[in-house]
Amino acid sequence: MRTQVAIVGAGPAGLLLSQLLYVAGVESVVLERRDQAYVEDRIRAGLLEQGTVALLEKVGVAERMHAEGLIHGGFSLALDGVAHRIDLTGLTGKSVMVYGQTEVTKDLIEACAGRDMPVQFETADVALHDVEGDAPFVTFTREGRAQRLDCDFIAGCDGFHGVSRPSIPEELRRTFERVYPFGWLGILADVPPCHHELIYSNHERGFALASMRSPTRSRYYVQCALDEQIEDWPDERIWDELAIRLGEEAHCAMTRGPSIEKSIAPLRSFVSEPMRHGRLFLAGDAAHIVPPTGAKGLNLAASDVAMLSEAIALHYRSGDRTGLDEYSGRALARVWKAERFSWWFTGLTHRFPDMDPFARKMQVAELEYIFSSKAAQTTLAENYVGLPLA
Ligand code: FAD
Ligand code: DHB
Repeated sequence: MRTQVAIVGAGPAGLLLSQLLYVAGVESVVLERRDQAYVEDRIRAGLLEQGTVALLEKVGVAERMHAEGLIHGGFSLALDGVAHRIDLTGLTGKSVMVYGQTEVTKDLIEACAGRDMPVQFETADVALHDVEGDAPFVTFTREGRAQRLDCDFIAGCDGFHGVSRPSIPEELRRTFERVYPFGWLGILADVPPCHHELIYSNHERGFALASMRSPTRSRYYVQCALDEQIEDWPDERIWDELAIRLGEEAHCAMTRGPSIEKSIAPLRSFVSEPMRHGRLFLAGDAAHIVPPTGAKGLNLAASDVAMLSEAIALHYRSGDRTGLDEYSGRALARVWKAERFSWWFTGLTHRFPDMDPFARKMQVAELEYIFSSKAAQTTLAENYVGLPLA
């Protein structure tokens, strides 16, 4: 088999890249280890920046998002149960879209199939070869057969645990990392949200977030300890904890119901530099991870592939390699700003195990400063709605 761009991984990065290349007239093949149902049902992010929305529009995969997604012009930031609204639209002129990663993924997979470029699900043993030369190729096993895909470029969109990043020699990679001493316990339930916008809450007992997927489906998170198990958190305990941490108003409006999904995710900041080695280009979680506070993960995957698709399209159009040469530096400049924001927003809103009274006072003072200062709110809002591609 031969294609122009071999894409490893059918998460948001790989799927969106394939469609951006398609509209630019560039051929690609997406290889995915898991089966379609697994990829479509993975509950993860829920918030799209306007830039991400625009990319889905550009590839013609925005119809259902516009019909079913919810536009939010603000969110609440609460301290010990008392909420203050951050007016995203008033401060930045922009809004965000509530539309689940599961839905984005389904829409993109459907577009791939409709454009006669079906995702190659259940592809095992993917290995990258000759990425430093002019004729790279990918080998894999599919439907019991060993296969080879020749290509001009390889896009490593295979997430944090994929094979692409380790294909760059270790001595050429530099990694930067922070592991946080807590996790997020997420719960999905078919009950109406407790508020029409999201609530991020800093509480003495730990962080909580009230989010949603639709007017009838809620997504909530509570900060938990790293050694806690799902079994330690029966639904009633989660609802009780949310009621305390989110405050009286949310508590009164909260509808409880059985969980339809429950999981614990650890929090991590991670960047691997550079994002390119020869003809291999990394994008999304394959190159970087942010803690979820502020919902930057999926949006960063989208901005990476926007830059990468532009660079690849320019190369095929005019033979100009500047975009390819500049991709890593350009993507990392935006990545680091999102890393900083996600790290800062996590530090502002979570309870750290080693937190002494001084550290708590600093958090409270910073939150109260934000509540009282339009300048501080603008900084928060500008980062939250997403920085420009630049
Ligand atoms: P992924 O979505 O990880 O996709 C990578 C794909 O590559 C996967 O389909 C994987 O199966 C495939 N793959 C891996 N290895 C191979 C291989 N060897 N061969 C072929 N295919 C391979 N972000 C938020 O903003 N908010 C959230 O609430 C949130 N929650 C999250 C919860 C969890 C548990 C996780 C893991 C992430 C969460 N994120 C969240 C982050 C967000 O979901 C990611 O940033 C986003 O999915 C990145 O997209 P991606 O395409 O780069 O990677
Ligand atoms: C969601 C997750 C986030 O990390 C966030 O900041 C906002 C919303 C969500 O899953 O709905």
